Amino acid sequence: MSAAFYILAPHMATNEHIGFIGLGIMGRPMATNLRKAGFALTVWNRSRPGIDALVAEGAAAAASPREVAESSDVVITILGDSPDTEDVALGAEGIVHGAHAGLVHIDMSTISPAVTRSIAGRYAASGVELLDAPVSGGETGAINGTLSIMCGGKADVFDRCKPVFEAMGKTIVYCGPSGSGQIVKLCNQVIVGLNNLAMSEALVLARKAGVEPSTMLQAVSAGAASSWALQNLGPRILQGDFKPGFKIAHQQKDLRLALELANQGSTPLPGTALVHQLFAALEAEGMGEAGTQALVKALEKLANTEL
Ligand SMILES: NC(=O)c1ccc[n+]([C@@H]2O[C@H](COP(=O)([O-])OP(=O)(O)OC[C@H]3O[C@@H](n4cnc5c(N)ncnc54)[C@H](OP(=O)(O)O)[C@@H]3O)[C@@H](O)[C@H]2O)c1
Repeated sequence: MSAAFYILAPHMATNEHIGFIGLGIMGRPMATNLRKAGFALTVWNRSRPGIDALVAEGAAAAASPREVAESSDVVITILGDSPDTEDVALGAEGIVHGAHAGLVHIDMSTISPAVTRSIAGRYAASGVELLDAPVSGGETGAINGTLSIMCGGKADVFDRCKPVFEAMGKTIVYCGPSGSGQIVKLCNQVIVGLNNLAMSEALVLARKAGVEPSTMLQAVSAGAASSWALQNLGPRILQGDFKPGFKIAHQQKDLRLALELANQGSTPLPGTALVHQLFAALEAEGMGEAGTQALVKALEKLANTEL
């Protein structure tokens, strides 16, 4: 990227009018960080509480995704699953109906790479550019503006949107053409799921073998076994805090997408499949809305112990 771009970037950061759709656990703090960076913001959420919180911080409210698009240069979505992004993008009151020259849609949800490419294709006739830019770093990363952002789409559109990403994240990586950001995010989720399982097994082993789990965590957290899961989820488990963070239902969606992608290319993912099954057992007990740190509860059951 040229030096000239960096000189221009601060002006671009405040000149782009941002639309934000999906004010849930992640979207709300991400939108707040865009406001703090000086962006003018128009928001829409399916339910009202998300909207009220952002309006109280100075954002304008719109009545539909279409209206958000009409008043924005860049529209960000962070929703649940593929059909949610499809509906907000292309539904009756969708972003596509507010299309105008230069409009960019950045989808930061974790969805199917194939659906991402399909939406990008269906946008083409109306001139809307789609970037897929899913994130990692959890609610804490969203609040602190330290998310990792993995982006797919056209490189020049990514360059234009870099100041927008910099208001929400620290590690911002261009991954390749449309869908590449989602593929990298699914790789991320494979690692996240297996790190979670490794931590859960170690906690249960420590308890059963007679060492205080908190002592084990303290000893291993800075060594070769360290991980985001150990540092962020381990302490929450020991405090009995199973609130989301990141819901099991969303992690199951991500692991399903990773396994589907793997099946298309005959790529065995035995560890991912195991984590998916353990979470399925927790979902069967009605725990889909719990945080993913509740994976340890499946291991506790198998070992007939409690932390
Ligand atoms: N939480 C994390 O740690 C984390 C980390 C990285 C990535 N992600 C990904 O980020 C995305 C959002 O996660 P989250 O934890 O913020 O979820 P969340 O708290 O459940 O928020 C989801 C948001 O999407 C909206 N929404 C869902 N379906 C919709 C639809 N059909 N039409 C319109 N709006 C819809 C919801 O509106 P309502 O408020 O009306 O329900 C809510 O604002 C997911 O794809 C997730 O996998 C999450």
